Amino acid sequence: MSGSVDAHARGGAVPVVELAGAGFSYPDGPPVLRGVDLAVAGGRCLALLGRNGSGKTTLMRLLSGGLRCGEGRLLLDGEPVAYDRAGLTRLRTTVQLVVQDPDDQLFAASVAQDVSFGPMNLGLPEPEVRARVAGALDALDIAALADRPTHLLSYGQRKRAAIAGAVAMRPRVLVLDEPTAGLDPHGQERLLAVLERLGESGTTVVMATHDVDLALRWADDAAVLSPAGLRTGPVAELLADRGLLEGARLRRPWAMAAEEVLRARGLLESGSPGPRTPEELGRWAAPA
Ligand SMILES: Nc1ncnc2c1ncn2[C@@H]1O[C@H](COP(=O)(O)OP(=O)(O)O)[C@@H](O)[C@H]1O
Ligand SMILES: [Mg+2]
Repeated sequence: MSGSVDAHARGGAVPVVELAGAGFSYPDGPPVLRGVDLAVAGGRCLALLGRNGSGKTTLMRLLSGGLRCGEGRLLLDGEPVAYDRAGLTRLRTTVQLVVQDPDDQLFAASVAQDVSFGPMNLGLPEPEVRARVAGALDALDIAALADRPTHLLSYGQRKRAAIAGAVAMRPRVLVLDEPTAGLDPHGQERLLAVLERLGESGTTVVMATHDVDLALRWADDAAVLSPAGLRTGPVAELLADRGLLEGARLRRPWAMAAEEVLRARGLLESGSPGPRTPEELGRWAAPA
């Protein structure tokens, strides 16, 4: 049974986008994904976790329509996606993928030109394009870089410019492939603040990462790729599952280890959540 049927049975909303029984192999290669069910619920933050080579990028390309499932199907608002021009346009205005390396995405001379490319391609009137570009640059906190040549930007700035290009399409689902990889701690914090604001304004964000601490802190839900398949659920539940983490060859989140010690020593009441960051642990440990 597909995830959407389960969601209906639970009384939940239809997922915005969903893979049902999805399988994929590259030409002449072994299957990368098999029988994958993944429902992306509107308004939730989803972390896609897996070690290098586990299939995160492939799965994100299936979700955003860059690759097509070999088996199974992709559903948009509960309806199978048609891979014709109209169907793909509908998919791309709903789901936007930002690839891992910004240099694979940026190509125009200036930041504003690059960010305007998608909306212009939709044939939107020029004032609307300008408004979208301004909004996207603002959302990513790079309005001051609008006229800067993209090749003169820092890596973190190029990452934000690439995300702005996707945001300018006003997608309901923003899919980010390892957006924090290569950023310094300050750059990571800035990006998380941006994602938080996008989430508050109603964008659903899916992020691929192998950073379990980041996932635990940021996500509502997790999808974990391992040789046994894809497991989905609330992030705190999945990342507390040692068997799952071992199977997926993921590290145990630092916060889970800290929480276990605190509970074992009777320092954390049952039902109250443990600290999720070193800062939270610091506040928690401070004398009242
Ligand atoms: N274009 C491609 N052609 C052939 N095999 C590929 C291609 N891209 C990825 N793969 C293979 O598919 C598997 C999953 O890769 P990928 O989806 O990139 O994983 P991840 O993003 O989790 O690192 C790997 O074994 C990888 O070598
Ligand atoms: Mg990848």
